[in-house]
Amino acid sequence: MRSVVMVSGSGTNLQAILDAQIADLEIVAVVSDNPEAYGLQRAIDAGITAITVDYQSFAKRSDFDDALYAAIEQIKPDLIVLAGFMRILAGDLVNRYDGRMINIHPSLLPAYPGLNTHQRAIDAGEQWHGTTVHFVIPKLDAGPSIVQYQVAIRPSDTAESLADRVRIGEYLIYPQAIAMLTSGQLKLENNVVYNNGQELAAPEVLHEQENN
Ligand code: GAR
Repeated sequence: MRSVVMVSGSGTNLQAILDAQIADLEIVAVVSDNPEAYGLQRAIDAGITAITVDYQSFAKRSDFDDALYAAIEQIKPDLIVLAGFMRILAGDLVNRYDGRMINIHPSLLPAYPGLNTHQRAIDAGEQWHGTTVHFVIPKLDAGPSIVQYQVAIRPSDTAESLADRVRIGEYLIYPQAIAMLTSGQLKLENNVVYNNGQELAAPEVLHEQENN
C-alpha cells in the first residue's frame, strides 16, 4: 500500500510506524504543514521523500488547502496516515480519501475531541483516558474508531505524565491498525468498519499493563 504519512511535529508515531516494518506498507512521502517538524528529518533519515506545504506561507486558508490537495494528488496514495497532523483538513481532501485516511487522537473518542485532551480528562475527574485510531471523516475527530488503548488516570498524574503513558499505547496500536489495513483485513464501507468481513461495532480495546 503506497502511503503518505502527515506530521506537524516530532513524529514519534511516524518513527514507531517505520520501526514496525509493516508488511505491504510503502511510505512514499512524509508531508508536513510545518517546515520545522522533526518528523521531516525522520523521513529524510529513513530515505523517504519529505514534503513541506508551509501553512504560514499562504495568505488564505483556502490556498493552503489547495496546495496540500495538489501535493497529495501528485502522489495519489492508497492510504493517508495522520500522525500528529495538527491542521483541520479541508472536506475535499477528506472526502477524496474516504475509507483510506486514518488518524490517531489522544483520547478515548468520542470523549475529548480537539486539543489539550490529557488536561481536560484530568480536570473532569475521569478514571480512564487513552488514545484512539479512527477513520477520518469531515467532522473533526469523529470518524469510526478502529482500536483504542486505555490507561487508568492516577491521582498523581499531570498532563505530561499521562501523555507519556498514552504515547506508549500509540506506538503499539497505530502500527497494529495500519497492518490490519495493509493486509486488507480492515475496511470502511458506508461509514461502517469491517474486520475480516465482520462489522466492528465497537473499537478493539487494549489496556495498559499495570506495571508500566
Ligand atoms: C500524538 O500524541 C497524537 O495522538 C496527537 O499528536 C501527537 C503527535 O506526536 N494527535 C493529535 O492530537 C491529533 N488531533 P508525534 O508527532 O510525536 O507522533
